[in-house]
Amino acid sequence: MLHNLFKRSTAKPQVWQPGQTAHHLIDLQDVVKSYATAAGDFLALKNVSLQVDGGEFVAVIGKSGSGKSTLSNMITGIDRPSSGAVVVNGTSVHKMSEGQIARWRGLSVGVVFQFFQLLPTLTVLENVMLPMDFCNVYSGRERRERAIHLLEQVDLAEQMHKLPTAISGGQQQRAAIARSLATDPPIVVADEPTGNLDSRTADSIFSLFEKLVDGGKTILMVTHDDDLAERVTRTVTIADGRIVDDIRSQRRPLSVPQPVRQPEALVVRPVPLFQPNGVGVYALQGGSGD
Ligand SMILES: Nc1ncnc2c1ncn2[C@@H]1O[C@H](COP(=O)(O)OP(=O)(O)OP(=O)(O)O)[C@@H](O)[C@H]1O
Ligand SMILES: [Mg+2]
Repeated sequence: MLHNLFKRSTAKPQVWQPGQTAHHLIDLQDVVKSYATAAGDFLALKNVSLQVDGGEFVAVIGKSGSGKSTLSNMITGIDRPSSGAVVVNGTSVHKMSEGQIARWRGLSVGVVFQFFQLLPTLTVLENVMLPMDFCNVYSGRERRERAIHLLEQVDLAEQMHKLPTAISGGQQQRAAIARSLATDPPIVVADEPTGNLDSRTADSIFSLFEKLVDGGKTILMVTHDDDLAERVTRTVTIADGRIVDDIRSQRRPLSVPQPVRQPEALVVRPVPLFQPNGVGVYALQGGSGD
């Protein structure tokens, strides 16, 4: 069961063909995000349109404050556009209620927050198990085994019984990466997932992401690391709330993209296994980004 966590269980790898999917996996149409500030409305995203197909590995780069996290939060449904549309695999994320988004996100999109957002009263292992508990996927024993395996993948198994406050920032970041993969989501949106890591650890996390893309996942990764940005299939540059550059490389996905579960097909029964000190499981799934 655990031997093939990062690959779909097709008997033979299928070869991806351009244009194989009828619609874009991620489709942002004319998205505007306006924040009300004391100085008046501030436009963090200005009519952004971005289409990402299944199997792409996209790096989003740009200066601090350019709108990268805001863009990520649109795709994951953490935040809503002021106008425009966010459609993921045909599902209009911007039209869903908070509860619907939380359920949809739980199985569809793994999120690595810029500031980790680990629940402080849960151990590292419990944090990684939490999305599986929330979405009620895998059996109880499998959840634990899978969480341990994911922590091994990010070289964090030795820290699994510690609380997030007892580990370093880089270790918290790796725990957040393991958690984002817990439900085996077809899409991963990672906001600076290597921002707190030394170059060697960052490289191993990036290799893990490459392996995931080769196994059929679609990854959008915000990064400041120019070296890593050069190794993806596509680099999108944001400046002052607009996409100013969009460059694709020749690298192509090795296999057919992992399908997205449709909301109506989701059997999601939130199970309040962990509600320490009143912190509900929804805090993870519906929390704010930055
Ligand atoms: N809640 C908010 N209220 C007001 N302005 C905001 C809010 N969130 C973000 N902004 C502004 O929107 C702009 C884009 O912010 P965002 O966090 O997306 O930048 P970023 O590219 O992720 O930056 P960094 O690289 O520093 O993480 C910034 O100017 C920021 O100050
Ligand atoms: Mg940011």
